[in-house]
Amino acid sequence: MAIEIVATGRYLPTRRVTNDDLAKTIDTNDEWIRSHTGIGSRHYAEPEQATSDLAYEAAMNALENFAPGKAAETALTLDLVIVATSSPDYYGFPAVACIVQDRLGATNAGAFDVSAACTGFVYALDAAAGMLAFGNRKRALVIGSDVLSKITNWDDRGTCVLFGDAAGAAIIERTDAPSTGAGKRGLIHSVLHAQGSGAQELKCERGGTRNPYKDGETLEKATHLYMNGRAVYNFAVKAFTDVMQELLDLEGITMERVKKIIPHQANERIVQAAAKRFGLPEDKFFMNIEKYANTSAATIPVALDEYAHTGDLKKGDIIMTVGFGGGLTYGGNLIVW
Ligand code: ACO
Repeated sequence: MAIEIVATGRYLPTRRVTNDDLAKTIDTNDEWIRSHTGIGSRHYAEPEQATSDLAYEAAMNALENFAPGKAAETALTLDLVIVATSSPDYYGFPAVACIVQDRLGATNAGAFDVSAACTGFVYALDAAAGMLAFGNRKRALVIGSDVLSKITNWDDRGTCVLFGDAAGAAIIERTDAPSTGAGKRGLIHSVLHAQGSGAQELKCERGGTRNPYKDGETLEKATHLYMNGRAVYNFAVKAFTDVMQELLDLEGITMERVKKIIPHQANERIVQAAAKRFGLPEDKFFMNIEKYANTSAATIPVALDEYAHTGDLKKGDIIMTVGFGGGLTYGGNLIVW
């Protein structure tokens, strides 16, 4: 029995905003953003678009890629809909996954959200795999979707230029392929970690039960994302390389066996530091931060879908995901395609 990714999909909102566009209203410039992060542009959701809208589009794309013209039929075969997000349509409930489940007509599926910030898809994939391995569930839809533009502090130029909105999706299935020995397939290892001592370094400060809005309070600004960029950067470089090594050790292989690494992309420099530490060429990593910026839980599934569509990824290839983010969380998956 193997847990395999059988289709992927993505959605980027149509509104594309370049660094030069941002520099018209924010005290920043293309040179600073590119040289400090590798970001050239990002996509933003429209005012009427919420996280579930992006998630739904990515899900439909994955369903269409799985069985063209049969999205509704496939949706009925789903046992689980899981959405990784840290910018839900509604705080607390309902889960974004429930809204997506309804819109897809996935009436046979259980639905819930995973909150692990930018590591969300890595966590959600492993949660889905565990749940498919147990009981009589066969097929799950795992989505990473975030609209951080709506919780960004637009007065903080050190964070507001970093994020974009997007959603990515994967359909995963319990199959009869072997999961051990030669010819094994699917998700073979996951590592999930948290360093909760760093929780305050990256957070949404208002609106939760720690710091709720008060009756009659007039808000000057919406809920804001706060990040201690330097602290998160230092955490990220170590977390990133630790996860890479841990996955290799679990499988007893070296990096030569890994075809591509699909990383979370918060800053190109974090990936470059990891590449240097492992002595790897930068093209070992599938990068799209230049086009999309940091799209939080969507980064890894969007990159996975883009990579899968390049034609470079063949059955039997080993790929690795590596994520890190708020929580602080970090982790990765090792997958035989
Ligand atoms: N445009 C122009 N100048 C800027 C900008 C900007 N957008 N932002 C900051 N600066 C200036 C600062 O004011 C500062 O100027 P000063 O030296 O005159 O005071 C200078 O640039 C350097 O600022 P730093 O904050 O020290 O810049 P740094 O090199 O640390 O880069 C960054 C900041 C890009 C945020 C980096 O720290 C980083 O990538 N951190 C990690 C982010 C991350 O991994 N997040 C995790 C995922 S997010 C999630 O989970 C939701």
